[in-house]
Amino acid sequence: MKIAIGCDHGGINLKPVLIDFLEKKGIEYKDFGTFDKSSVDYNEFALAVGTAVANGEYDKGILICGTGIGMSIVANKIKGVRCGHCHDVFSAKMTRLHNDANVLALGERVVGPGLFLEIVDAFISTEFSGDERHARRVEKIKQLENKNFK
Ligand code: RB5
Repeated sequence: MKIAIGCDHGGINLKPVLIDFLEKKGIEYKDFGTFDKSSVDYNEFALAVGTAVANGEYDKGILICGTGIGMSIVANKIKGVRCGHCHDVFSAKMTRLHNDANVLALGERVVGPGLFLEIVDAFISTEFSGDERHARRVEKIKQLENKNFK
């Protein structure tokens, strides 16, 4: 599995925690920035990570900002991205099982490092259920994208 990761200044402290976790698990990743605490716009990092996932270069994306909200809003405007904004383990698991989410957005100002890693672990280790009703709903999302995006 290859994972694209990104953050803004609001998520800069949790990103090393994520990198350490991925490295210990032997998971390949690319860090799309930001790389320091200077104030930046979350938009460009959500766009870079979301695009890398949508074009198939990476299997999943993980985005961290202060709340996860800005990142998730931007990511979900990219065709092919289904971004789950999750601050609990149950939601992270369900967004994989039911929504086949390919990007996870979280907020560093919302969760501590322990819960953060449990959420990430649930997201990356849970497969899409593939159940007919969930597959149908994901397919409807794709149809809506095809209708609304160029
Ligand atoms: C930055 O201050 C903050 O607005 C950003 O990290 C994020 O929380 C936006 O949704």
